[in-house]
Amino acid sequence: MRWMVTGAGGQLGRCLVRRLEAESRHCLAVAPAHADLDLSDRGSLCEILERERPDVVANAAAFTFVDRCETEPELAHRINAEAPGVLAEECEGRGIRLVHVSTDYVFDGRARSPYAEGDPPAPTSEYGRSKLEGERRVEAANPSALILRTSWVFGPGRNFVATIVHAAGARRASGTGEPLRVVDDQFGSPTYADDLAGWTIRLVEGEASGVYHLANRGIATWWEVAREALDRGGFSDLAIERVATSEFPRPAPRPAWSVLDCRKADEAGIRRRGWREALAAYLESDDSPLRALGEMR
Ligand SMILES: NC(=O)c1ccc[n+]([C@@H]2O[C@H](COP(=O)([O-])OP(=O)(O)OC[C@H]3O[C@@H](n4cnc5c(N)ncnc54)[C@H](OP(=O)(O)O)[C@@H]3O)[C@@H](O)[C@H]2O)c1
Repeated sequence: MRWMVTGAGGQLGRCLVRRLEAESRHCLAVAPAHADLDLSDRGSLCEILERERPDVVANAAAFTFVDRCETEPELAHRINAEAPGVLAEECEGRGIRLVHVSTDYVFDGRARSPYAEGDPPAPTSEYGRSKLEGERRVEAANPSALILRTSWVFGPGRNFVATIVHAAGARRASGTGEPLRVVDDQFGSPTYADDLAGWTIRLVEGEASGVYHLANRGIATWWEVAREALDRGGFSDLAIERVATSEFPRPAPRPAWSVLDCRKADEAGIRRRGWREALAAYLESDDSPLRALGEMR
């Protein structure tokens, strides 16, 4: 199968590229990063599709700055809603299979049992609204597209775990014992981008279509993720204060509880490990933010 991966410089994009390059059953035709292809540029997109003629396109590109989406809603709409819709049309017209990635932020977070694929979305942020509109446009233009909703992604690039590790390193470097402060009243399922990339390839091999939820097993708060990362990273002596979301005002509201029910993926044969095991794998990998700290730990 010949693949095209968009957003190839992002967390999921990079993991998909590596896995596809390593798997003999698959071939990576082209993997444009943002600088190589602006997904909202239809002409350039069509040029690449015509030239490379992939069997599958995996769209890992998105405007993922959740707070900036509040102040730049037009940009969020263009990248997260319009561009996936155009991509879906162009893939449909050429008989190319499309995998599009979406988010737990399409839910409002008021549930207290895991969200299934059929549960009604009700996003509370511009990011969530733009991503939901993207799903709808993809479904309308390309009914056999595979739409993967995931949550709390960490991997090569910008993510919460990397931020916490860097903050811990800065505390140690400056010798301040000041505790970190992390919210402990938002619940979700952390997801390792490399695991997500592997599951994506397996679902495409199984010819899955429609919406699937995908996350590592287990439920955590951001505080628990931070604690686990710092304990594993040699910072168990560093205190982390538990704070409420209300003490940390952000431009975009976050769902308080956005655990995804992934049983549909499990039934399709996807094997998901727990988030703690996945986090350990990330921290031991070449992408680990701990590497930049060297001897400091
Ligand atoms: N990260 C999470 O916690 C999370 C949670 C749930 C769902 N998701 C979804 O999972 C998918 C992958 O997320 P990720 O964590 O891998 O995101 P990421 O690391 O932020 O990567 C997204 C990539 O898209 C690129 N991009 C932005 N605008 C673009 C445009 N106009 N044209 C082409 N590329 C563009 C970005 O490039 P620049 O950085 O150069 O702009 C970046 O390389 C996204 O659909 C996201 O919505 C993520």
